Amino acid sequence: MRRRKARVAGVGSARAGSEKRVVALEGATLLRLLLFGFLFCRALYLSRPPAPALKSAAQLADLREAGRMAAAVLERLDREILPGVSTARLDAVARAFIEGELGATAAPLHYGGLTGGLLRGYAAGEALCAVAHASAHMVSRAVWGGKPLPVPPLCGFPASVCISINDVIAHGIPSEAAVLREGDLVNVDVTVRAASGAHGDTSKCWVVGAPPLDAPPSAGAGDAPAPDGLRRRRKLALVAREALWVGISAVRPGVTLGEVGAAIGQHIADAGYSSVIAFVGHGIGSRFHEAPAVRHAAGGPSAGVVLLSGMALTLEPMVNEGSPAVRIDADGWTARTLDGRDSAQWEHTIAVSADGAEVLTLRPGEVPPLISSRQRPRGGGPGVLT
Ligand code: MF3
Ligand code: CO
Ligand code: CO
Repeated sequence: MRRRKARVAGVGSARAGSEKRVVALEGATLLRLLLFGFLFCRALYLSRPPAPALKSAAQLADLREAGRMAAAVLERLDREILPGVSTARLDAVARAFIEGELGATAAPLHYGGLTGGLLRGYAAGEALCAVAHASAHMVSRAVWGGKPLPVPPLCGFPASVCISINDVIAHGIPSEAAVLREGDLVNVDVTVRAASGAHGDTSKCWVVGAPPLDAPPSAGAGDAPAPDGLRRRRKLALVAREALWVGISAVRPGVTLGEVGAAIGQHIADAGYSSVIAFVGHGIGSRFHEAPAVRHAAGGPSAGVVLLSGMALTLEPMVNEGSPAVRIDADGWTARTLDGRDSAQWEHTIAVSADGAEVLTLRPGEVPPLISSRQRPRGGGPGVLT
């Protein structure tokens, strides 16, 4: 504080003494040093992305609990996915379940907004956001003829879950206007923040009106004949689910993220589809999104990260029927395929264990898909695939 005063005096005074000029010089040098330090740290950070944090036993226990909660939300939604149901209704069911039954919060609500950190969880904050959204909508109606505002809202993601239908790759916003129709390919992505602060992040697909895509093979549902129109979407969704499990089976200590990504990407390419690289999986813990970025294909900035027991991350391959190119709607969130063809995604939160992967968001009774040995990553994984 004192130094700053001296400098101001030195600059402003015509009869500045030599002592004052020295102080002013020091200030400029200090600024330059600070700038250099900042640029150096930034270059270091970019050249060596931070390794994922190792979780303590207590943190892993919290992540297990959060993972179980997120899995329970998807199970709760199973019976709601019916023709005629709006995605706003699915969002309301999920939110009521997360807050009422689980005593947790929905991490997507207000996520990424300027005010998100401050407002999250406070009723007043939510009321403020509701008013802000309503006014934004009125302004957009008046000025842009009903089109959503061309900037992401201040309040972040405006719902509790993401619901992505057909050509929507991810981050679809639930709405009253989006009503499920027979044959729609629907993904619901749930992220729960438990009271401990730990997160569980998971998603799955349904084809509306078709048998479940994740029923155990013994139930025979996977073999049930599907009407022609549903087959194409069913196959896309099943390959996306396999891609997730190919990735999970490649995870164990000593393996790099690049190897996991390559196994996922290869499975998707073998099926004739493309893997989206504009969006990635991520480390997870007391923050929703942590380092590193997990690419669902070979390469990428984190390809060299070596997995160690105690790391927690998500795998969430997005599989496009056609091109992997993405475009974002004017709402600032909804990510669609550029070519308008369909996209499917499944996600699990996993912890790297001593000899493989522990799937923290595994649903009770969920059985990994059967994948032929030709498609398995080299080494066969921890044996989660049968
Ligand atoms: N759940 C998504 C993920 O898998 C992220 C959603 S961010 C949101 O990482 F803001 F759109 F909710
Ligand atoms: Co995720
Ligand atoms: Co997610």
